[in-house]
Amino acid sequence: MSLSEQTIQIVKATAPVLAEHGETITRHFYQQMFSQNPELLNIFNATNQKTGRQQAALANAVYAYAANIDNLGVLTAAVQRIAHKHASFNILPEQYPIVGKHLLEAVTHVLGDAATDEILNAWREAYGFLAALFIEVEEGIYRESELAEGGWRGTREFKVVNKVQESELITSFYFEPVDGLPVADYQPGQYIGIYLHPEQSEHRCIRQYSLSDAPNGRSYRISVKREGKGETQGMISHHLHDNVHINDIVELCPPSGDFYLNPRSEAPVVLLSGGVGQTPMLSMLNSLVHQGHQQPIIYVHGAMNSRVHAFDQHVREHTEQSDNIEQILFYDEPTGACSGYHHAGKTDLELIRKKIDLPGAHYYFCGPLGYMAMVKKSLQSWGVTEDRLHYEVFGPHKDL
Ligand SMILES: Cc1cc2nc3c(=O)[nH]c(=O)nc-3n(C[C@H](O)[C@H](O)[C@H](O)COP(=O)(O)OP(=O)(O)OC[C@H]3O[C@@H](n4cnc5c(N)ncnc54)[C@H](O)[C@@H]3O)c2cc1C
Ligand code: HEM
Repeated sequence: MSLSEQTIQIVKATAPVLAEHGETITRHFYQQMFSQNPELLNIFNATNQKTGRQQAALANAVYAYAANIDNLGVLTAAVQRIAHKHASFNILPEQYPIVGKHLLEAVTHVLGDAATDEILNAWREAYGFLAALFIEVEEGIYRESELAEGGWRGTREFKVVNKVQESELITSFYFEPVDGLPVADYQPGQYIGIYLHPEQSEHRCIRQYSLSDAPNGRSYRISVKREGKGETQGMISHHLHDNVHINDIVELCPPSGDFYLNPRSEAPVVLLSGGVGQTPMLSMLNSLVHQGHQQPIIYVHGAMNSRVHAFDQHVREHTEQSDNIEQILFYDEPTGACSGYHHAGKTDLELIRKKIDLPGAHYYFCGPLGYMAMVKKSLQSWGVTEDRLHYEVFGPHKDL
């Protein structure tokens, strides 16, 4: 299937309108969709709606599609990222017409008289084309997960077999499948979708958590930070800490995600994280150690202080056992009880440039948005090329 030339021209010509009204359209879209299809409240994250982060992510995606509709190749990476995220929510083909209907209604509502039949028909066709693309890519992900050894499609029941407090704020959960069969391997850096229904929530909630250890074929580990407090207390992170215990059963979607260690690269690797952003880095570090990676591995981590700093001892053991692994620690606000850190204050890559500006190195980073923007800017200013920069956003995606 391909788009007609007329549709391409009309959609491209209306792209600037979307840039102007994008978030108004997507806000209206979600309001209408949830009032007419309330079952979808069991899929979408209500907080991301409240904070507007999901509206912004969708508006940006729709705008990028319209602006590049005559050159869709540039969107390949974005389509992969969104499809992997969708896969962790188990998004199904039959849900696309529902979203399409409400999106078109929202465009009509916001554009008013400017939304002519010609424009709406062009957008209907363009949406159908994009939906078909997502459905195909997502089916590919589902099939791959299902066919992998230890794999499955949709959700599968897992038992919490261990729960370990790693710091004042971070706790790890170990899961094994209830059916006692193996579990699929994953690429270090990927995440799982967890499905929970806390008593205080009217709806089921789905969240993503990066797998925080190397794959082992038997179990998965995630490490969760308590997010926010008071009015901004995160629903599921607190529920996991307070109410999910050893022997409880949860449902998990198979591992997915497009942020992972290049499995073939023999280059130096620099893993940079802020706070709980270190979870995918731990999976990468442990996998590199298992693989016997010979090139330098530099683990750069920033935490507030030792009270909230998780996995210090674990990373330290790797550095003691391997000559090619080094850890560099920044503590924002060290207390008198803190030791073993290298720099006081927020992560500043200029201070450690000599150690991490390595020819051909790949850089993987994860943390708060401001942290990642700083990392990207510094690395780019040193001339690190785009293909060697890899990052994950712990929430609705945002370009840095
Ligand atoms: C790919 C991926 C991987 C991830 N991996 C990890 C991981 O390894 N470990 C981990 O701990 N987390 C991880 N996350 C984040 C995780 O999925 C959840 O988003 C996180 O646990 C918060 O969920 P919650 O239900 O507690 O918060 P939610 O209730 O969903 O709230 C989301 C955020 O908004 C804040 N908030 C709540 N209410 C308000 C309000 N009224 N105004 C403003 N802000 C508000 C909360 O404090 C929280 O920070 C990952 C996310 C993604 C997308
Ligand atoms: C062509 C149509 C669609 C587009 C362009 C689209 C786009 C997006 C984008 C850009 C994101 C954010 C991705 C990220 O954070 O990396 C997203 C997330 C999501 N999408 Fe879609 N999507 C489409 C269809 C659907 C459908 C049919 C459903 C199911 C009802 C759906 C459900 C979701 C959910 C649940 C999330 C996560 C929301 C959150 O984290 O709060 N999407 N989508």
